[in-house]
Amino acid sequence: MAKDQEYHPLMSEPSDEAESSLPPVKPTWTSKLSRTVLVILLAIETLALIVALFFLLRRTHHTTCTMELDPHRVLYSPALEAVEHEVQVYNVGFTGDLSPFQIPSSPTLDGMWNDLYNFGISRITKDEAARLPNKTHAIPGDDGYYIAELDVFHNLHCLNKVRMALDPDYYPDWCISTTNNWIPSQKNATEHVSHCVDWIRQSIMCTGDTSVIVWQWENFMNASIVKGNVAHTCRKFDKLQDWGKEHMLHMAYDPTVHIEDDIVVPIFHNNFD
Ligand SMILES: *[C@@H]1O[C@H](CO)[C@@H](O)[C@H](O)[C@H]1NC(C)=O
Ligand SMILES: *[C@@H]1O[C@H](CO)[C@@H](O)[C@H](O)[C@H]1NC(C)=O
Ligand SMILES: *[C@@H]1O[C@H](CO)[C@@H](O)[C@H](O)[C@H]1NC(C)=O
Repeated sequence: MAKDQEYHPLMSEPSDEAESSLPPVKPTWTSKLSRTVLVILLAIETLALIVALFFLLRRTHHTTCTMELDPHRVLYSPALEAVEHEVQVYNVGFTGDLSPFQIPSSPTLDGMWNDLYNFGISRITKDEAARLPNKTHAIPGDDGYYIAELDVFHNLHCLNKVRMALDPDYYPDWCISTTNNWIPSQKNATEHVSHCVDWIRQSIMCTGDTSVIVWQWENFMNASIVKGNVAHTCRKFDKLQDWGKEHMLHMAYDPTVHIEDDIVVPIFHNNFD
């Protein structure tokens, strides 16, 4: 082993040197004893040094740990346990195949949208927080629990805000301006909706749904027509909803309280850096 090769000379050399540089003394009973004690002490020290080095190396490895972002593996999420797949056929969304969400703005519609995500802020355990690729914050007053939100619920929140912005008569607070000369009251909604549209763009590109939309011949039109009611592989949304409801953060989260912890997330480096 490399450690043996490194440390053996250390143990023998100093004693060789000591012997040659010191004037020869007649070995007495006490000098023999102190020599034995010295050798034992030296052995203990060497062992301690090796142990200390081991922990030091482990520590520095831990704090400067960099990990490859593995694109072949889904990053850890505490909700991975809730992921199940199913085949779903979308509603096309034109007359004849409308979804239940295609109704006029109303308290009913608001309720349907809110039911999709209004439990989206979760509390997860410290062990789960420590496995995330990014650090999150402890919940003040809820010892050992951390705040988190599954992106699927944030996505739905965002799409809902875009929907509201499209109906400014019904949702005057979400009236946006598409020009740069907005009136001050439109600034918040405009920025929020801009964030949401771009977030949804990134989410769609990230997910990259490869389900196939097809064309089929329609005799009555003498033409092949695009068909949207095709099969998709989906994550079961009701399972993610169940996970969200089970982990919902019920108490108010106070973002002004800072709680230190010892969670160290690895520094990821990815190939496009
Ligand atoms: C801006 O929008 C956010 C998100 O809806 C809302 O919480 C906040 O109160 C708004 N701020 C102002 C100044 O309107
Ligand atoms: C479809 O095309 C066929 C052949 O050209 C023609 O006989 C028929 O009338 C057309 N039907 C319609 C609905 O246009
Ligand atoms: C989250 O982790 C990624 C990958 O290491 C990093 O690029 C990003 O800056 C982190 N963001 C936050 C808010 O920690």
